[in-house]
Amino acid sequence: MCGIIGIITVPGAFNEPLGSIIKKCLKNLEYRGYDSVGFAILGDIFVVRKSKGKIDDVAFGLGFDKYDGFVGIGHTRWATHGPPVDKNAHPHTDCLGRVAVVHNGVLENYLELKEILRRKGHVFKSDTDTEVIPHLIEEFKKRGFQPYEAFKKAISVLRGAYAVVVIDLDEPNKLFFARNTSPLIIGIGENAIFLASDIPAFLEYTNKVIVLEDGELGYVTSRGILIEKLLKPGELDDELAMTEIVDYKSRIKVLDWTPEMAKKGGYPHFMLKEIHEQPGALAATIAGLKEEIDGIVDALLKSDKIIFVAAGTSYHASLLGALYMNNLAEKWSMAFISSEARWWMSNIGEEDIVIAVSQSGETIDTLVAVREAKRNGAKVLAVSNIIDSAIPRESDFVVYTKAGPEIGVAATKTFTTQVAVLLYLSLKVAERIGNKRIIEEIKNDLAKVPELASSVLSRYEARIKSLSRILKKKTNAFYLGRGFGVPIAMEGALKMKEIAYIHAEAYPAGESKHGPIALVEKDFPVVFTSIGEEEELLQSNIEEMRARGAWIITIARKGSRLFSISDEKFEMPNANEYVMPILSILPLQMLAYYTAVARGYDPDKPRNLAKTVTVI
Ligand code: G6P
Repeated sequence: MCGIIGIITVPGAFNEPLGSIIKKCLKNLEYRGYDSVGFAILGDIFVVRKSKGKIDDVAFGLGFDKYDGFVGIGHTRWATHGPPVDKNAHPHTDCLGRVAVVHNGVLENYLELKEILRRKGHVFKSDTDTEVIPHLIEEFKKRGFQPYEAFKKAISVLRGAYAVVVIDLDEPNKLFFARNTSPLIIGIGENAIFLASDIPAFLEYTNKVIVLEDGELGYVTSRGILIEKLLKPGELDDELAMTEIVDYKSRIKVLDWTPEMAKKGGYPHFMLKEIHEQPGALAATIAGLKEEIDGIVDALLKSDKIIFVAAGTSYHASLLGALYMNNLAEKWSMAFISSEARWWMSNIGEEDIVIAVSQSGETIDTLVAVREAKRNGAKVLAVSNIIDSAIPRESDFVVYTKAGPEIGVAATKTFTTQVAVLLYLSLKVAERIGNKRIIEEIKNDLAKVPELASSVLSRYEARIKSLSRILKKKTNAFYLGRGFGVPIAMEGALKMKEIAYIHAEAYPAGESKHGPIALVEKDFPVVFTSIGEEEELLQSNIEEMRARGAWIITIARKGSRLFSISDEKFEMPNANEYVMPILSILPLQMLAYYTAVARGYDPDKPRNLAKTVTVI
């Protein structure tokens, strides 16, 4: 999905032209997927250049590196309104070419605004929704508004999702910005201030950030920041937009993310790097948990039901969370896909806790579920990897995973760290209700999980690589498990589907004979994820599949009886069954990664998918 960068600098801030800095920042957003690239820079002259294509090609063709200036914006476009052609690339400008705008999100009322502006003589050059923004600003300036007031007024009439950054030649020392639903972050550097859709864009220059909230707008100069809150939606009349100034000082955060974390560090893809970062991410997350937990454990203990809401990979972590809460913490708990949660909220109330799991903290479906839960009086706990993102901000409690920036679209290290957090929380509740022996055992194994994860990763990488050469020719696969193995089967299948584009489906193994088995024929791949005690039950499921000629890949604990009836075996260290899921997913992440590479796909940029989904 689209990426935004905006930079405003004091003279001489960088020892290379602003155009090449913008290019670098855009390269850091490349993983989001895009089809066109563009920039606008104001220095001695004002240039706006854009084209369909990849960043390196477009930057070379349009000579990004030769343009210098003190203020600039850049954009990678992922087509929504209108095909990926040059004219639809951002920035978009007004009739006079004095206002340049980059935008992420979708404007719901752009057609009616476009029609009104057209009737007033504005000429549109693209098919995009974005182009109404520069024309609106131009229109309000024509009516006598000062440039910043015209910008605010323009934003106030937009309906829908937007992160917007604007250069206006009539106020050249400012970069205007606004956010609603689509993420936008301010980065505060020594001699420059940045605006970006995602922190890794500017991480090389600063780790000091303010995460903007919905309804905020304002401007940055090379040395200062003004943030205001839009108080109500505006109309196309001559009233000034109603805003109030926001005191943001306490919201400035210094992240413990380093620029290296957002680079590939010698790996061919971010996804592989992030798979290998899991031991460290798990260690950092577990170490970080100790400080923040007590109040949350009290609330969980007092709660009646514990409801998880999440999407994608975070939903799979939530399924494990619900199992942990039920079995360890002895709380009635269930996980719901967040886009479906609204149909389950009517019996959730003040005595319940909703746990919203979201690595980005911005997934709109999960945010909507959080709001619904709060309306019903439930307390909300967010588990997220992004500090101050929308879901943590709207929640009563937050626990952050400390996975560092995850650039690959397919979640890996955020998943295992989420599971570790949820297990830790369940353990803490369990501790308060007794059952000391099992708790000690799980705690010990959880403490060892970084080391165990590291051993699984190094032991199996080469084997998995060669296995991927067989798997790459397959068109379908089943992933089956029982109990704690079901969410792992689901996550393994999702990984295979989203990056290797193999049709992979997961089922509880017991369900496989109620339909799925009809598809199984000779050499059909079936992956079994065994966590521990359900082994005996899985044995008969494997036999059923084998009898039909299936090719069996089994992940199970050391010494498992299942290995003797499997074609491919991945032996997991002997950890407690609550900890095992964190280890069992590792071979499946690598299997999906290497199969995607063997099939010639880029695992970091899966087609049609986005890392952060802010549309319903
Ligand atoms: C997208 C991403 C997935 C992610 C899901 C939920 O679909 O591609 O990797 O699991 O969103 O995202 P969240 O940020 O809420 O965990």
